[in-house]
Amino acid sequence: MHPPALEYLKWYHQTNVWKQVTWRGVRTLKLPSDMWNYQEIITGHGVGWVVETGSRHGGSALYFADLLRNSGAPGRVFSIDFRPALDPRAAADPLIDFITGDSADPAIAARILDGLPADRAPLFLILDSDHAAAHVRRELDLWAPRLRSGDYLVVEDTVVNGHPVRPDHGPGPMEAIRAFRADNPGLLIADPAREAKFGATFAREGYYLRA
Ligand SMILES: C[S@@+](CC[C@H](N)C(=O)[O-])C[C@H]1O[C@@H](n2cnc3c(N)ncnc32)[C@H](O)[C@@H]1O
Repeated sequence: MHPPALEYLKWYHQTNVWKQVTWRGVRTLKLPSDMWNYQEIITGHGVGWVVETGSRHGGSALYFADLLRNSGAPGRVFSIDFRPALDPRAAADPLIDFITGDSADPAIAARILDGLPADRAPLFLILDSDHAAAHVRRELDLWAPRLRSGDYLVVEDTVVNGHPVRPDHGPGPMEAIRAFRADNPGLLIADPAREAKFGATFAREGYYLRA
């Protein structure tokens, strides 16, 4: 990221603006330029299914459901959280399956992925639950190998642990994705143009296509 974008990101994070973002009135803990990127990816890649780890208030799941609905996609949104705090407006959306549990639980991944049609449209997987490196690594080990060629992966909040925010965080998503890629060369294709498109992102080194 260019220095002005890094400064913007620090300001956006430190002032807690990211905690006050809403989608259709439901809290959504995101950077708007990432949301626009997700919209372009979901539309541009013909994405039909979304799996999100970390639901919190359900705003991001509602956003993804709206994108699928408006593009006429055949699929649904699966959003996993072991302690969600769902807004009733998101909880009521018929296109979202909110699943309570650990996002690194193989049984949950199997239940979701084994239930998809064999000829399914591409899937968009976004990791946004516990940001400790060990947990993100468990998620990557579980989910990434089971993606299909052409599916899309976003690892959110790689910016913590000083990249450039929350230097006090300790190893986080950035350290997890770097280690995963080193151990699984060729599995994921980085999408640096997508990452760079709007200058600032919460998902530095976080945009990938499954090879
Ligand atoms: C950053 S919030 C998700 C924000 C949401 N995706 C959004 O953009 O509005 C992270 C969520 O992950 C959940 N979480 C933390 N550890 C988890 C785990 N091991 N399994 C599932 N969810 C977890 C927390 O309960 C919290 O609600």
